[in-house]
Amino acid sequence: MTSFSSVLNLDEISATVDYIRTMFMQGSTPELIYHTPENGWDDHERYRYAFPFASGEIPLDTAWENLTPEQRHGKQLFMHSCISCHDRGRVTNEGAIWELRALSYPRKHYTHTRPMDGLTGASPYALHDKPPEVESLTANERRGEQLYQQNCAFCHAADGTARNWIGSFLEPRPRNLTGQQLAGMDNSRLKDVIMDGIEGTSMPAWRHVLDAGQIEDILDYIQRVFRQADKTDKP
Ligand code: HEC
Ligand code: HEC
Repeated sequence: MTSFSSVLNLDEISATVDYIRTMFMQGSTPELIYHTPENGWDDHERYRYAFPFASGEIPLDTAWENLTPEQRHGKQLFMHSCISCHDRGRVTNEGAIWELRALSYPRKHYTHTRPMDGLTGASPYALHDKPPEVESLTANERRGEQLYQQNCAFCHAADGTARNWIGSFLEPRPRNLTGQQLAGMDNSRLKDVIMDGIEGTSMPAWRHVLDAGQIEDILDYIQRVFRQADKTDKP
């Protein structure tokens, strides 16, 4: 913290202090409320059962059997829809600092597309955040690759295994899209799932984000690049 005495005069310093007091220290001012319809959160009240887990009022690691049915519903909701931004409001047991399975959302300036550096490269998750290099993709498959890496890799990992950081702590886990995992589902079934999302999980509905042709391109890419690579057995 540097001294501001040569930068701001006394009046300016006291105006800044007033601003901080009203904006940040006296409860929520409208500017700080995030869950507004303008931000895409119509009727945020309907998530109220999850609020105590966001605020830390109920520790996130409270055993399921010690929760009322409403609180259980709230914890489930929190685990699939809120934790990605809110991390853990509070836990009773902080747990191990490092485990193979991710414990907590990455902090600060995490991005899954950051070029690998010494730190991220050392993580067992980074391995899965690298898109497979496949030559001679068709134009559709290339478009699908781009769309997949922009929209789906965040949860399903760049290599489709869902073994990236984010994927490893979402519950339920995003589907591993490699190998024969999806063999029982034809493209039209898959397209419907992608359009509509999966209720009760973090799998979003893409109906209003991607058009049918774009989803077909993504499926072409998944079929071509991920189906061939069965990575289910590799750590
Ligand atoms: C895309 C990120 C994101 C997601 C997802 C998210 N939140 Fe938030 N939430 C925020 C931000 C940002 C704030 C404002 C934080 C602050 O002001 O310190 C916030 C604030 C809150 C607050 C404090 C009161 C308020 O409205 O500002 C509650 C309660 C809350 N969130 C509950 C939830 C619940 C429940 C869910 C899941 C249904 C959820 N949030 C999902 C980003 C998110
Ligand atoms: C916010 C996280 C998230 C994102 C982003 C996401 N998914 Fe998912 N997806 C999931 C989860 C979680 C599941 C597993 C749900 C379950 O277990 O039923 C899933 C399941 C699937 C399935 C399996 C469907 C089934 O019925 O078995 C497919 C296919 C799929 N996702 C494709 C995609 C595609 C394509 C995109 C990008 C357009 C995408 N997902 C983006 C979280 C995500």
